Parts: sequence; C-alpha cells; structure tokens
Amino acid sequence: MNITFCCTDTASEPWLLGLRAALPHADVSLWTPGATPADYAVVWAPPQQFFDEQAQLQAVFNIGAGVDALLKLKLPPQARIVRLDDAGMSVQMAEYVCHAVIRHFREFDAYEADTRQGKWSFRKPRERADFPVGIMGLGVLGARVARSLVQFEFPVNGWSRSPSFLDGVKCFSGADGFNDFLAASRVLVCLLPLTPDTRDIMNRDSLSRLQPCAYVINVARGAHLVDEDLLALLESGHLAGATLDVFRTEPLPAGHPFWTHPMITVTPHTSARTLRSESIAQIAGKMAALQRGEPVAGVVDRGQGY
Ligand code: NAP
Ligand code: GLV
Repeated sequence: MNITFCCTDTASEPWLLGLRAALPHADVSLWTPGATPADYAVVWAPPQQFFDEQAQLQAVFNIGAGVDALLKLKLPPQARIVRLDDAGMSVQMAEYVCHAVIRHFREFDAYEADTRQGKWSFRKPRERADFPVGIMGLGVLGARVARSLVQFEFPVNGWSRSPSFLDGVKCFSGADGFNDFLAASRVLVCLLPLTPDTRDIMNRDSLSRLQPCAYVINVARGAHLVDEDLLALLESGHLAGATLDVFRTEPLPAGHPFWTHPMITVTPHTSARTLRSESIAQIAGKMAALQRGEPVAGVVDRGQGY
C-alpha cells in the first residue's frame, strides 16, 4: 500500500513518522510534484495539482472534520473521501461551547469587570429555563455538545437535515422545522457542515427569529454567518453577544470590526483541533479496513457535501 501525505500548514515529519509506525508495511511519503501515484492520500487543503497527478487514489483521508475546502477541488471520481470522525474533537467542542454558554449565562465577563475594579457585587441569578440553547447540526460534534449541555440542565433544541432523536433534546428537522427551532432558542450554536444549503444560514432573517437578547456561537465555518447582519442585530439590541471561532477570511483580517467589538469574543479557529495521535490511529485503522474490503465510518457523500 502506497500512501502520499499532502497537508498545507502542517508539520509533516511527525505525521509521516506516526503513519509509518502505525502501518509498518506501507510505503508512506511526503508528496512532491511529479511523485509516483499512490493508493491512499492523507490531506489538508492540497493544491489542485495534487489531485491532477494522483489520479488513481482509492481514498482520500482529510485530517479535519469539515470537507468544504476539499470539495471545491476536482477529485478523482473513484476516490472515497473520508473525514475525521471525532478523533478527540467532540470533547474539545463540548468544552468550548459549554464554556461560552456558561460564561454568557452566568455573566462571568461582568463579574470579571467588577472585580478588576475591586467591586464585590452580586447579580440576580438568571433562570436556566430562560436560556434554551439551539444547536444547528446534530452530527458527531453537535450531538456531543447537546448531551453536554443537557448535563448542565439547559433546555436544549437541536436541528438537523433528517429527523434525530437524542435524550433530553427537543429535535427539529428540515426546512419545515427551522423557524420553530429558531423561535424556541435563545442561544444559537452552529455546528453544520458548510454546503450550498447552509452557507449564509445565520442572516438577518434567521437571527431575528431567535428569542430576544439572543446569543450566537459559531464554531463551524465563517461563511455560515453574514457578518454585517450579526453586527446590525447586535446594534439593534436583538442580539446580546456572540462567540466566534471561525471567519469568512482566516486569519481574521486586521481592522475587521469583530476584533474590537465589545459584545463579540473572537478565538482563532481553535474550538476543536486535530489531535495527531488520535487521528493517525483512526486513519491507519480505516486504511487497514479498506484493504480488507470492510466498510469504514466517515465516508463523505459528495452529493450532500458532507
Ligand atoms: P457531521 O457529523 O457530518 O454532522 C453534520 C450535521 O449537520 C448532521 O446532523 C446533519 O444532518 C446536519 N446538516 C447538514 N446539512 C444540513 C442542512 N442543510 N440542514 C440541517 N442540518 C444539516 O459533522 P461534524 O463532525 O459534527 O462537524 C460539523 C462541522 O463542524 C464540520 O463540517 C466542520 O465544518 C466544523 N468543525 C469546526 C471545527 C473548529 O475547530 N471550529 C472543528 C471541527 C469541525 P443529518 O444528521 O440529517 O445528516
Ligand atoms: C476544523 O475546522 C475541521 O473541520 O476539522
């Protein structure tokens, strides 16, 4: 089995060593233009030239959960695209989203501002029932986040393309369920894949349907959110704030209003990072399964875009 590795912005040596250790009988090499065609590829944001040259690939392993960037390229038609299936990401995502929800709900920013001024002051405890959290996307990451928020006893709503069933979560689905889902939610968490159906999904119309003083948490892709609409609804008071981990252009350009907006918390696309050893173990296990002719989880449906 020949494996080629082509991951932009990634230190290749530890991955190559890890893949060789996990698959001792495989020939694992770093892709360079003109390299011999391989059977499997491990990629992140490869150039189109990579796929033009690697026309015989049986499977392409993406070292992230989202495949939107990959699907913009022309891939060999027979190659299966396999995304990371959790691999240590869902617990990180649960930490990040629970932290953002609780920080907002418990007003920890306001307490910090007070105590920095030496002020010992109390705020009236808020009712958890007044902070229903709506999660868009109930896949590997969204379902884990939903379960974690249920543990903290928040009312939790979920929205997915096909009907979902999760203990303690009020589930909505499809276009028909979207407006009811929004109307039932005060905190909105985006954990959708970026597809033609979900691009710009957080816009003036949808965000206006959330309960008053709503809060937005985007941990999926920047293009899910219409930046100007978020800013306008913060200005109008309909939105109480936002935590944003992903942006239309990354890194977030200098001078972008999100950097300094007092009601927006920015983090640098770090809510759920790819963990190298977990990912290598998962990818190696799946390559071995494919070699044996067995099915693997996380195969992308190119038609659906995720
Ligand atoms: P996943 O398992 O594929 O789950 C996707 C969920 O979105 C599914 O519940 C799916 O519905 C739903 N969905 C897709 N299209 C929809 C539509 N048009 N309407 C309603 N629901 C729709 O994906 P995942 O592993 O949870 O990851 C989700 C996304 O998180 C990734 O695509 C990636 O962009 C992002 N991500 C971000 C970070 C970060 O650090 N910020 C890290 C990892 C991933 P069905 O259940 O009906 O299919
Ligand atoms: C990160 O954003 C990922 O898709 O894994």
